[in-house]
This record gives sequence, C-alpha cells and structure tokens, in this order.
Amino acid sequence: MEQSATQTQIVRLPLSDWSQARYDPQLILDLEAGKVLYFSNLGFSLSTSELRLLTPALLAPKSRNISLDNTNTLKGALGHSDDIAMLQGLLQRYRSHTQQLLHAILPGYAPHLRFAPTSFRPAQVESRVQSWRADDKRLHVDAFPSRPNRGERILRVFANINPAGQSRHWRVGEPFEAVARRFLPTIKPYKLWQAKALKALHVTKSLRSEYDHLMLHIHDGMKADLAYQENCAQEAVHFMPNTVWVCFSDHTSHAAMSGQYMMEQTVHIAADKLYHPQTSPLATLQTLTGRRLI
Ligand code: SIN
Ligand code: FE
Repeated sequence: MEQSATQTQIVRLPLSDWSQARYDPQLILDLEAGKVLYFSNLGFSLSTSELRLLTPALLAPKSRNISLDNTNTLKGALGHSDDIAMLQGLLQRYRSHTQQLLHAILPGYAPHLRFAPTSFRPAQVESRVQSWRADDKRLHVDAFPSRPNRGERILRVFANINPAGQSRHWRVGEPFEAVARRFLPTIKPYKLWQAKALKALHVTKSLRSEYDHLMLHIHDGMKADLAYQENCAQEAVHFMPNTVWVCFSDHTSHAAMSGQYMMEQTVHIAADKLYHPQTSPLATLQTLTGRRLI
C-alpha cells in the first residue's frame, strides 16, 4: 500500500556537500516528528582502492556487520592486515562525516551526543535467514531485549555505498503515535520483579524500565502481526547509492527489504535533550498511559 505524497514520512533535502550542512528548524521538526531525512544528493565516496572492501568475504563467521568502536577496535572482520587497516580508515572517515553533519544540522544536540560504534554492512539484506523477532524485513521500531535505554534516543545516519546501482529498499510505516495506540492495549502489564529477575539472570544489561518493556513489546507486536505488516499505512522507499538518510529508528517504523553495502552510524541522546522533548517515544507513551515510565 503506498501513501499519497502529502502523507509521506520521507523528507528530501538538497544538500550535496557534507561541509555545507546548516541549521534548519524545519528539518529538526521533521526529524523529531519521526520522519526520515533523505539527503538524495549527498554521497559517501570510497577511493578506488577502498572499492576492494566491498565484499561479504571480509565478514568474520557469524558476523552481520563490521564495526569500529570509540577506541578504534574493529570487530566482525577477517582479512589481511592491509584490508583491516583500510576498513578502519573507512569507518573512521564515516564517523567523522556523520559527526560533522549532525553537529551542523543539530547544533543543540552536540554537547549531548554519545557515539555508538560505526558499522559497515556488506551482507545482502535478502539473504539473511532469521527468526521473526530478528527479521528486519518486517516493519518495526528499534528496541533491544538485552539493552534497556530508559528513553534514551536512537538516532541513525545511513549511507548506501553500493557500487552496482542497487538501492537500499525500505518500507516506512505510520507515525509512532498510531503504532503505539494500536499495540499498547495488547501488552501485558510491566512487573518490576520480572525486570529484576531478567537483570539478575543477565538477560538484560541493566534494569528494564516500563518504557523498555513497552517499546520491546511494540517492536515484537508489530513484527508478529502479519496482517498489520501487510495492511498498515506504509510507503516503499529506494535509497539510491550515493545517498544518505537519517532517522530516529526508535520512532520511525521501518523495514529493510533488500540492498547490500551500507554504512551506519548510531548516536544516542537523552530524551530531554531534544529540541522538542514532547515528541519523543517516551513522552508519547507517558501521555498515552498517563504515567511515568522510567
Ligand atoms: C534496521 O535498522 O532495521 C535495518 C536497516 C537496514 O539494514 O537497512
Ligand atoms: Fe531497525
């Protein structure tokens, strides 16, 4: 089902140079409303020698991504030392480009941003075989079972670096409030003793708050409901090679249908450090439930 142009969740922006990004209040309103900022003229380019890194053969067995953390430790890659060094350089460059972009378009976030590891995803999306819960070809908002975040936001900057013209095909679903209204009534009540048990058993890395409980069950409820997957308001988007897109993935309903070779940078920011904190999933869920969730 395609939405009409007036309802689209995709906001196209003309920026074509990472260093020319500027503060724009409308862009911030759109991003914080859960839309996807699509920089359709902004490329992240590879040097001729880096093109040889575009192969899933560099993935270590059982790894889905190659990532570089803040201490410049590379994970998930297996290869000759010169390829490893080149991968490190590529990932570092992507991290600094995304930092430059985010600082320019969201200057108010800058002192509060926490950069997660940078990742390179060389695997073909459609070749992944997964359980329904891990299947990102189903529409979902991001929420992770082992990593409670108590409302902290998940902001992601993606770049398609496919050398053969293949798009990253996503579906983008309805706004978060509609998703929350639909799935909240289906969720079993939060129990503090269960959250404590999960922490004691190291299923979670910290105590799962009621917010985390609700987000996880919204994530699972969306993925488990095949009729919802098929019939909810949604649009198909083809993010082309040499483009960049940015969204709050804990807010934007999204599914990755196909594509190969993508860069991704996750950054975190506290929900109360947004320009418009009342737009956060935490604020929306607190309004809908009528109580504090963290
Ligand atoms: C996801 O965040 O669900 C997947 C994004 C992608 O692989 O394009
Ligand atoms: Fe996701």
